[in-house]
Amino acid sequence: MNLPDLCIARDRIKKEIKYQNVNTKFSPLFKDKKYFLRTYGCQMNVHDSEEIKFYLEALGFVPTDTLEQADIVVLNTCAIRENAKDKVYGYLGRCKHLKKLNPNLIICICGCLVQQPHEVETLKEKHQYIDIIIGTHNLNELPELIMKKMPKQTIEVYSNSDIVFENVKYKRDSKVCAWINITYGCDKFCTYCIVPFTRGRERSRKMENIIQEVQELKNNGYQEVTLLGQNVNAYGNDLNLGYDFATLLEKVAQTGIPRIRFVTSHPWNFTDKMIDVIAKYDNIMPYIHLPIQSGSDAILKKMNRRYTIAEYKELFHKIKAKVKNVAVTTDIIVGFPGETDADFKATLDIVKYCEFDNAFTFIYSPRVGTAAALMPDETPKEVKEEKIKELNNLVNSYSLKSNQALLGKTVPVLVTEISEKDNTKVCGYTDTMKLVNIEGGKDLIGKIIDVEITAAKSFSLDGIPKIKVNN
Ligand code: 5AD
Ligand code: SF4
Repeated sequence: MNLPDLCIARDRIKKEIKYQNVNTKFSPLFKDKKYFLRTYGCQMNVHDSEEIKFYLEALGFVPTDTLEQADIVVLNTCAIRENAKDKVYGYLGRCKHLKKLNPNLIICICGCLVQQPHEVETLKEKHQYIDIIIGTHNLNELPELIMKKMPKQTIEVYSNSDIVFENVKYKRDSKVCAWINITYGCDKFCTYCIVPFTRGRERSRKMENIIQEVQELKNNGYQEVTLLGQNVNAYGNDLNLGYDFATLLEKVAQTGIPRIRFVTSHPWNFTDKMIDVIAKYDNIMPYIHLPIQSGSDAILKKMNRRYTIAEYKELFHKIKAKVKNVAVTTDIIVGFPGETDADFKATLDIVKYCEFDNAFTFIYSPRVGTAAALMPDETPKEVKEEKIKELNNLVNSYSLKSNQALLGKTVPVLVTEISEKDNTKVCGYTDTMKLVNIEGGKDLIGKIIDVEITAAKSFSLDGIPKIKVNN
């Protein structure tokens, strides 16, 4: 079996990166045929799905939310934890049944799951009804593959890529907030993580292309851009053009787009220059997602995270001191191989110390081919489940506390859509990325308004509009 190989993967940084424009013109051969698309995983996948939607609609397909009505099913998959994979296999079972009823149905699977050779082997052997298996590095080939209507399963997965595609078009989900890729891949090789294998080497888009994209979005009325990368602060390292993430962030801020966010930051190379730029510009939102993963130095070392708790604390204080009103959120893994009760207690301690505005918590899930998958892991599942419950209770108490601190205050909110919970209300996010349900109609969507906070829960706020700030 062809497993991810760390040595080959590490060697990849020696090759030159190429920039290539993609073809964006297709004939509507499938006019009014229906597509059903499901997306799993991170923002990167959500944004890739916006690219997939562009291709499908350029080919003439229209969206459907009913699997049974679909002429093509596309599953954009995630590989980060085992449960993400389980969900995909659940859908595949239903697809297999539908394909028996309708042999013309096209079934396509893409995303991180299929970047793992052993997963492709399983799909090849046990799921032959799948028509197209396409990787994360060559999504732009999807339209050609669909047009070919292959007689048998077609697999187009490249294990590595030195290409950055430019001129990519998207069917964006929102007219208010937009994702912008700034880097692809990751070279950090945290020992638990599959991303450096599924998404390939770290490669940056050129600054002028990113700025042009921001400018176009701003001209089209977008209020917010989120700069996307597995590790945004590594931006520019591979380019050797003398600029870094701080330079890019400053240039994006100078376009005057009302709101700028970025995910995800790695604590290891979060520079003082970055903090200064974030503090300097009002349109860079005071919100930083800064994954800590564990509170124990011994575990951080085994994870290959490249920082100690003392260093994380130092960075945390610098950010809090310089960026006014900043909210910091984090990711935490529970039950990494060899995690002792004392290590877990250290994680609880750092949560108490930092009082994170929010934290995404995960039980460690071994990924085939990663270094951690070979480490002995003796903690029973039930113990890990108990630990994560305890951690979640603590994390939620601080989320509630930070939300309650806003009660009675007036905060700026970018209204993005009709509220999911109550369609007589709208919702949006504060500058610090807190979800607010607001009394008001859809005329508020796309506006940044002042909202008085009237209720605070762990995961959301309620509010009423006050004076309009913008527009
Ligand atoms: N098991 C559990 N959680 C993981 N993450 C990444 N890989 C794993 C894994 N194998 C978590 C990390 C990361 C977030 C996106 O997912 O916390 O920051
Ligand atoms: Fe995975 Fe670590 Fe890269 Fe994040 S920085 S994508 S956790 S390897």
